[in-house]
Amino acid sequence: MEKLSGKKNTAVFISGRGSNLRSLIKYSKTKKSLIRIVLVVSNNSTAKGLDYANKSKINNIFIKYSKRKSFEDRLLKLLKRNNVDLICLAGFMKILSGSFIRKFYKPILNIHPSLLPKYKGLNTHSRAIQNKDRYSGATVHVVNKKLDSGKIILQKKVKILKSDSEKTLEKKVLKIEHKIYPKAIVKLLTSY
Ligand code: GAR
Repeated sequence: MEKLSGKKNTAVFISGRGSNLRSLIKYSKTKKSLIRIVLVVSNNSTAKGLDYANKSKINNIFIKYSKRKSFEDRLLKLLKRNNVDLICLAGFMKILSGSFIRKFYKPILNIHPSLLPKYKGLNTHSRAIQNKDRYSGATVHVVNKKLDSGKIILQKKVKILKSDSEKTLEKKVLKIEHKIYPKAIVKLLTSY
């Protein structure tokens, strides 16, 4: 991973609602922010997150995902053109190839709604409830070519109550996500 210093040009990749994008935009506007969001990419043309990018006048683009290779080739060109130093995946529901990760050669972070290594992939909340876990949580990790498996940067727990449903647990975890993503970025960028 390349050494980082100064305010980093950041691209955020989304697929939908964009509440983590919104929290990253909010962080990026603070005085002490270590990032500048220069690009938002969505593989979904109707992602609500694109509205947040537009409202904040952040350069954003929808790229249709049909074949991974052409999607990633386009992305790499865009990232280069925008001098992107850091990618934050924020509810981006596509898997980036090892080749993309190698070619970008700079940090890529992801936020995942579970206490990794538990519950990689989808349906994390229902699995935690079904297994009667006492805790769930959120994890920010570095992206590598294995799904949800890269180095963990930050993780925070929430208690699962007997009364919790998938919906209430999702809400609690999401609240934590919004707090830890900016903190994980700071941790990553100041850990050299
Ligand atoms: C978040 O809970 C995020 O952790 C999860 O999707 C949601 C997106 O919400 N990501 C994944 O499951 C990635 N595997 P948002 O669009 O409101 O940020």
